[in-house]
Amino acid sequence: MREGPQAKEWRKMASKLVYVLNGPNLNLLGKREPGIYGSQTLDDIAAMLVERGGELDCGIEMRQSNHEGHLVDWLHEAQADGAHAVLLNAGAYTHTSVALHDAIRAIETPVIEVHLSNPHTREEFRHKSWVGMAAKGTIAGFGAKSYLLALEAAASL
Ligand code: DQA
Repeated sequence: MREGPQAKEWRKMASKLVYVLNGPNLNLLGKREPGIYGSQTLDDIAAMLVERGGELDCGIEMRQSNHEGHLVDWLHEAQADGAHAVLLNAGAYTHTSVALHDAIRAIETPVIEVHLSNPHTREEFRHKSWVGMAAKGTIAGFGAKSYLLALEAAASL
């Protein structure tokens, strides 16, 4: 489990708090199948989001876990924490997790589904998204830039 990158005090100073939740295997970004997912690490993406978040008055709460239940707990926490929105790249749980689907439906905080790759152009088992069926919207296929586009969408809500 990974939490950060902005100190709690600092991120609360921004008017919009955005949780960015990352699921299984995304801790290996940069090394993991770079032909599909690119060479930027999750820390690189976090740094990009913090910088853009500064311009958009968004504080970034970036987390990663390989465990489904952590992601469920963090969705609940985002609402309890008064988050403005959640960006969620649930990794492979996207295609399997009714629990994440239900957690998104259980909170009022808008959730934006994010993917580096475009799952619809890949194997058939990636075409179904339990996350997407409950999310406010989806941004996929733009590599690390998907996160920036999703942050812009979140800031505009
Ligand atoms: C992913 C796409 C998923 O199908 C895959 O299981 C991942 C990464 C993406 O960001 O492109 O782990 O969510």
